Amino acid sequence: MVSPTLPAHDIADLGLAAEGVRRIEWAEREMPVLRLIRERFEREEPLAGVVVAACLHVTTETANLMRTLRAGGARITLAASNPLSTKDDVAAALVAEYGIGTFARRGEDRDTYYAHLKAVADTQPRLTMDDGCDLVTLLHRERPAQVADVWGGTEETTTGVIRLKAMAADGALGFPVVAVNEALTKHLFDNRYGTGQSTVDGILRATNLLLAGRRVVVAGYGWVGKGISRRMAGMGAHVAVVEVDPVAALEALMDGFEILTAAQAAPWGEIFVTATGNINVFRREHFVAMRDGALLANSGHFDAELDLPALRQLAEGHVREVRENVQEFDLGPKKIHLIAEGRLVNLSAAEGHPAAVMDMSFANQALSAEWMVQHHAELEARVYDVPQAIDQEVARLKLAALGIELEAMTAEQARYVASWQSGT
Ligand SMILES: NC(=O)c1ccc[n+]([C@@H]2O[C@H](COP(=O)([O-])OP(=O)(O)OC[C@H]3O[C@@H](n4cnc5c(N)ncnc54)[C@H](O)[C@@H]3O)[C@@H](O)[C@H]2O)c1
Repeated sequence: MVSPTLPAHDIADLGLAAEGVRRIEWAEREMPVLRLIRERFEREEPLAGVVVAACLHVTTETANLMRTLRAGGARITLAASNPLSTKDDVAAALVAEYGIGTFARRGEDRDTYYAHLKAVADTQPRLTMDDGCDLVTLLHRERPAQVADVWGGTEETTTGVIRLKAMAADGALGFPVVAVNEALTKHLFDNRYGTGQSTVDGILRATNLLLAGRRVVVAGYGWVGKGISRRMAGMGAHVAVVEVDPVAALEALMDGFEILTAAQAAPWGEIFVTATGNINVFRREHFVAMRDGALLANSGHFDAELDLPALRQLAEGHVREVRENVQEFDLGPKKIHLIAEGRLVNLSAAEGHPAAVMDMSFANQALSAEWMVQHHAELEARVYDVPQAIDQEVARLKLAALGIELEAMTAEQARYVASWQSGT
């Protein structure tokens, strides 16, 4: 039964709230930019009375974003953006300590996942905040009448932005959305350094393997793939990259990595990590060619990068849990290991990105939400980049928080770079 003093919620265990609060406060220490924004929001309340529905990974960093939006006056409700990324202690703290309606249980099944999305959609939001576009998709597919009441949204990740752009191209998108992922202060740091480090963290927590000397295959050399490849190499692994884009492949080559096709990589690799935003990157023919003990992990948004139905079929039901977050598929002549059911390994088997990097991503979220509230009336139903002024402000605040001073151009230099007359 829901206590009358608590917001509506569906979470695993309210008793975990104290631990959640401790960990949220720990993360906050690393999030000075968001803290500065929260202090301003408390004074100015730019989101006063705005109903916000959020679908984000329920982590300590997200909790600090929720606190910031609430400080700005938003009436906010949160659902999980992935069934395995929820931290149950954080969900408990959000409800019990911070009064934020939260619908998220780690390990929830598909029906519960969608019931939770519906619960936040039921609040009749003016603003949506998505990580992977599931909430926006739900509103457009199942609740078209509600779409007209939404002022706008924000989207956190690459995959979500790609979906929104596809919706806009089809004329299907019903309100403007800010692509937070496209901010430089988001993807240059979050996707690359945040996912890079936390993917390694997830693989290590799940397996405790030695990476030095291991052959690691990274599929996708976008921002996430670059981060993973660099960090794996830093741990002493031999890294090969699988790419479909010639420029990305060339960049990986010149960064010092082997370039292989998926078919070439399958018998070569020992650890495989996908980060493409695509489907079935490794599939039946690759699993068959992999060596005994091959380890599979995914850091892309959806659990579709590995063809798991094919892997299950090959194992004919011979699947067992060999460690927490590691399943062993017995293919007869060999065994293949899968981490976190092929879901985002960094969030499912570790804690996701470090707070210091989410500080910038979520500063962009908070400022983009404020911008959307101020400007929605003049915007069209399409995908907008984060305004450059916000991106620059986030970088400026982060440097200031780190106590780092920037060089400033002299007047002479400013005149020089603005003029076209001086030459050789
Ligand atoms: N785990 C996390 O916390 C986290 C964080 C940020 C982004 N993401 C997700 O990670 C994925 C990648 O994000 P990104 O920002 O690196 O995207 P990106 O667009 O920068 O890079 C994706 C790369 O994958 C390549 N690619 C596409 N299909 C391929 C295939 N079949 N084989 C090999 N390469 C292929 C593309 O050419 C591209 O270079 C997205 O799904 C994104 O939403 C996850």
